[in-house]
Amino acid sequence: MGIILKNVTKTYGEGDVKTTALDGVSIEIDDGAFVVVLGPSGSGKSTLLNVMSGLDTLDEGEITIDGARIDTMKDNALTAFRRKHVGFVFQQYNLLHTLTAKENVDIGGRLVDEPHDSERLLDDVGLAKHKTKYPFQLSGGEQQRVSIARALAKRPKVLFCDEPTGALDEEMGKAVLGILQRLNEKHGTTVVLITHNAAIARLAHIIVRLNSGKVVSVKANRPVSAEDISWGE
Ligand SMILES: Nc1ncnc2c1ncn2[C@@H]1O[C@H](COP(=O)(O)OP(=O)(O)OP(=O)(O)O)[C@@H](O)[C@H]1O
Ligand SMILES: [Mg+2]
Repeated sequence: MGIILKNVTKTYGEGDVKTTALDGVSIEIDDGAFVVVLGPSGSGKSTLLNVMSGLDTLDEGEITIDGARIDTMKDNALTAFRRKHVGFVFQQYNLLHTLTAKENVDIGGRLVDEPHDSERLLDDVGLAKHKTKYPFQLSGGEQQRVSIARALAKRPKVLFCDEPTGALDEEMGKAVLGILQRLNEKHGTTVVLITHNAAIARLAHIIVRLNSGKVVSVKANRPVSAEDISWGE
C-alpha cells in the first residue's frame, strides 16, 4: 500500500537534551515497493520506521497509509489499523520461548479473520522441518525466519523491518533478505527495510538516505537478487 509522509518532525526531550530525530521528512512510497532506508547510527532510521508505522507519535506533519491519515487517528483506531495491516520484523526476533516455531507463527495471525496457514508459511521460509522446535533449538537466522513468518501470518499490506539482519552473519543474512525479496515479488507486499549496511540497499527499488533526521537523497535502483550482494561492499 502507498505510504506518504509530508514534512514529518519528531523531537525527543526538552532543553539541553532536546534531540530532533526527524526534521521535516517527506517521502512517497508506492504500493508494492521494496524500499531501503540507509543512514548512519543516530540519523533517525528507527524513529522514521516507528512513526511511519504508527508505533510512535509525531510532532508535526502528516502520514497517510493506503489513503488513511494515521497521524490523526485515535489510539484505539491506530492500534486496530496496525494489528490488521502492518507487520514488523526487528533485529531481536522477540519470539516466545515457551512456544514452538509453529505456535509462534500462529500468534501472528490470531488477531485477523483469515490468517495464512502457519505450516505453509514455515515451509515458505524454509523451516518446514523445524516447526515443532523451540526458539532455543534454532539458529539466529532460523529464528529470524520464524519472526518473518509470524509477521506475515496476518497478510500485512506492508512489512516494516528494522535491521532484520543486524544480528546475523552474511550467509544467514542473505537467506533472510532473499525471503523478504521473494515475498515482495510474489505477493506485492510493500517492504520498508532500514539498515546501516549499504550493500543491502542493492536489493531495493528505492533507496532513501537519511542523515541528521533529514532525507538527503531518494534514488531509484535496479534491484539485484539477495544472493548476489556481499556484505563488505
Ligand atoms: N526514546 C528516545 N528518547 C530520546 N532520544 C531518542 C529516543 N529515541 C531516539 N532518540 C534520539 O533520536 C536520534 C535518532 O535515533 P534513532 O534511533 O532513530 O537512530 P537510528 O538511525 O535508528 O540509529 P541506529 O543505527 O544506531 O539504530 C538519536 O540522536 C537518538 O539519540
Ligand atoms: Mg535504529
